[in-house]
Amino acid sequence: MSSSISIARPRATPELSEHVYARSKEYVLYKGDSLALLEKFEDQTFDMIFADPPYFLSNGGYTCSGGKRAAVKKGDWDQSRGIENDHAFTSAWLKACQRLLKPSGTIWVSGTQHVIFSVGFAMQQLGYKLLNTVTWYKPNASPHLACRYFTHSTEILVWASPNGGKGKLQHKFNYQDMKQANGGKQMRDAWALPKTGEEELSDDGEGKLWTMTTPKPSEKSHGKHPTQKPIALMERLVDACTDDDALVLDPFCGSGTTGVAAVSKGRRFVGIDMDTTYLDLTKKRLDAVK
Ligand SMILES: C[S@@+](CC[C@H](N)C(=O)[O-])C[C@H]1O[C@@H](n2cnc3c(N)ncnc32)[C@H](O)[C@@H]1O
Repeated sequence: MSSSISIARPRATPELSEHVYARSKEYVLYKGDSLALLEKFEDQTFDMIFADPPYFLSNGGYTCSGGKRAAVKKGDWDQSRGIENDHAFTSAWLKACQRLLKPSGTIWVSGTQHVIFSVGFAMQQLGYKLLNTVTWYKPNASPHLACRYFTHSTEILVWASPNGGKGKLQHKFNYQDMKQANGGKQMRDAWALPKTGEEELSDDGEGKLWTMTTPKPSEKSHGKHPTQKPIALMERLVDACTDDDALVLDPFCGSGTTGVAAVSKGRRFVGIDMDTTYLDLTKKRLDAVK
């Protein structure tokens, strides 16, 4: 396998090349621990980072899968090491990402209540500027088996700029594109995706509600990941804050959904995962985009 990294060449240090798992004109995939690999990129390399990090959910609890009780077991990487250690891990990769963003670049981090408060607090500690906390509503969320809480049916996406509000904010936001995608009304921070094309704008300008489920079966035709994100969600993030040819990083790339959205929209992608099963799946999905 070639060790040259054409798409990220000016911004990647030579030690990175030994971690290249797969590459093409549009993407480079690295195998390894993100905490170690992120240190090897040069400052201000990326236009956008999306991170779907461990939520620390796999701790002996149960969920509902296919109508049946099932253990939450997404992988060893999803186990909690205790609140302090989990927060230290979250802070460490967020700090590394902050250095890698261009001044116009932004980071999106997805999470549930299990991790998202730690993400927000770490961002504040590190001096990120919080731009939005978007709520993504999943109408097909699994029922809550114990019937002791409300059904969990949302995820939070924190959007932030690396520049903690010092001086003029330079972050890229395709405001007009988002407004147009929302029928001419300002897009709000509560999303249900993807758009089916049949929704009507309400008279009070609340905007279109885009019905969104977790990934469709067609998105799993190359294989499955236990925490796969829907392509429509990732496409909106890419549309919102990058232009053609932007360089997008996902430090926890899983099945590569961020890359599929980025490459299909003419952006370039760098993905990192420590698991070759998922890197193989990402490669298959990315190669199928063409
Ligand atoms: C929540 S999943 C990402 C799913 C992805 N968004 C998708 O659509 O498929 C997190 C991924 O991060 C990887 N991972 C966890 N900790 C890591 C680390 N320290 N370094 C590199 N990869 C890691 C796991 O193998 C897993 O595939």
